Amino acid sequence: MNGNGIRGQRKRVTRRDFLHAVGSVGGSSMVYRAMGALGLVAGCSASQDADELPTPPGGSWRVLVLGAGIAGLTAAYELTKLGFEVKILEATRRAGGRNFTARAGDVLVEERSRQVCGFDRADHLYANLGPARIPYHHDRILGYCREFGVDLEVFTNDNRAALFHAGRSGRTLVARQLHADVRGHIAELLAKAVNKGALDEELSGLDREAFLDMLATFGGLGVSRTHIGSDRAGFLTRINPGLEAPETLATPASTALATILGDEVFHGYQLVFDQGLNQQPTLFQPIGGMDRIIHAFMERVGHLVQYESAVERIENTYGKGASEATGVVVTYRGSKNELRQEHADFVICTIPATVLRGIATNFRRELVEEIAAMQYVEAVKIAAQAERRFWEEDLRIYGGISWTDQDITQVWYPASGYHRAKGVLLLAYTWEAHTNAFFGERSPAERLDAARSQVDAIHPGASAVIGPGISRAWGEVPFQKGSWANDDPDFQKHAELARGDGRVHFAGEHVSFLHGWQEGSILSTRAAIRSIAKQASANH
Ligand code: PHE
Repeated sequence: MNGNGIRGQRKRVTRRDFLHAVGSVGGSSMVYRAMGALGLVAGCSASQDADELPTPPGGSWRVLVLGAGIAGLTAAYELTKLGFEVKILEATRRAGGRNFTARAGDVLVEERSRQVCGFDRADHLYANLGPARIPYHHDRILGYCREFGVDLEVFTNDNRAALFHAGRSGRTLVARQLHADVRGHIAELLAKAVNKGALDEELSGLDREAFLDMLATFGGLGVSRTHIGSDRAGFLTRINPGLEAPETLATPASTALATILGDEVFHGYQLVFDQGLNQQPTLFQPIGGMDRIIHAFMERVGHLVQYESAVERIENTYGKGASEATGVVVTYRGSKNELRQEHADFVICTIPATVLRGIATNFRRELVEEIAAMQYVEAVKIAAQAERRFWEEDLRIYGGISWTDQDITQVWYPASGYHRAKGVLLLAYTWEAHTNAFFGERSPAERLDAARSQVDAIHPGASAVIGPGISRAWGEVPFQKGSWANDDPDFQKHAELARGDGRVHFAGEHVSFLHGWQEGSILSTRAAIRSIAKQASANH
């Protein structure tokens, strides 16, 4: 039996964790990339992939799916197609799980607060407080968008008009300027080293001139291979001058190397964020909100969802003397607080590990221990309606991210509704333990106040036009208790979950090697379906 309510410790997400998550080094993303590469090498179509779904096993089988998020809905949709009888038990009153889009009038409940979204009612005034971007190579989630006719538009991470803000030193740099200077300085220094002969050994046998040419192009260097600045950084006064050619470039000394090295936000992960496999262009978002995907699933399997059914016990059942499980009994609390039971041949459990460890089970000890030990990030998103799209009108920022060393960490400009009067701005998106705790521990009103004034430090005067806001601290959300399983290799231990237990199989981002992505939820769901089909065939 599982212990009750062991709460995950808050763990600081270090820069190393983050870089790992972004996909710069090893681990899950490498595995994923390798899988993709294999598919490409073989010239595979999606249906020939390693995660191919099984053929219908025959017989009549009942599957209980626990949780109506992306994993649960995918399970219901695919299992039904394979001839299984399916029912989804959902603890809350809505489907979607962490896929959550806030709009006018929506009610957001956390352990210690209740908010009502005060945005105006309009197609473009929404906030994706859970997943918000879909990488171009996440074939399965994009596949469902294609199959269901969920229209997509491009989502922007990297925007050269966005800002890098160091509250510590009080400096703000425009991204185009910082990127041009970083490249310029690196290229100039490397060219100097080459010319001094400092790299002769490394360059022996290589075409030095070609290397120097590459550096000059890479860094936008001048004829003497020094970083004198280029139009990559824009011009001093306006981005585009009038009829006269601009006299001065903005670059040369504007961001000295010392300045770049002086503030971490100017040289840290923020600078290369969009290079990672999962954050590089092209990214997408469904037009009108991420929950368009949920609605599309609901049109197909919505009738299978039973709401307000909070699972309290999951038990494999064993026939007399049988060593293998023959079914599952799930005990849950219904909408009137009454205890109820369901029997099934199989279960697909998509409940996050943070919640699952508070549920009684008769799982094997290693699995219980793994579930208890899994670490989660408790990310926070704060969004507000701006009465004027000052980022577009004043700064030509169309979508993308500004980075800051303040608690809010990042500001996202909407990748939709360009040039309309109003827009929803993401004032904060945090994922480190200390910033998550800073906001998570505050009331929604306090979070908003803090976020508003921090945005004001980046965009002076902005707080005057920032209106009604809403926030989601995922660690505080009932039946979620976290935003995604930590991607640190040390905590990526989900081999036991991936194996399942008897007739219970697990799915969700935390079971996959793609933590924090809807694609991971789908990948793990497909694996669970394969396991069930195998067991069904064997017991047919
Ligand atoms: N997929 C989420 C995002 O892009 C969470 C995440 C962030 C997951 C970074 C892994 C790495 O914001």
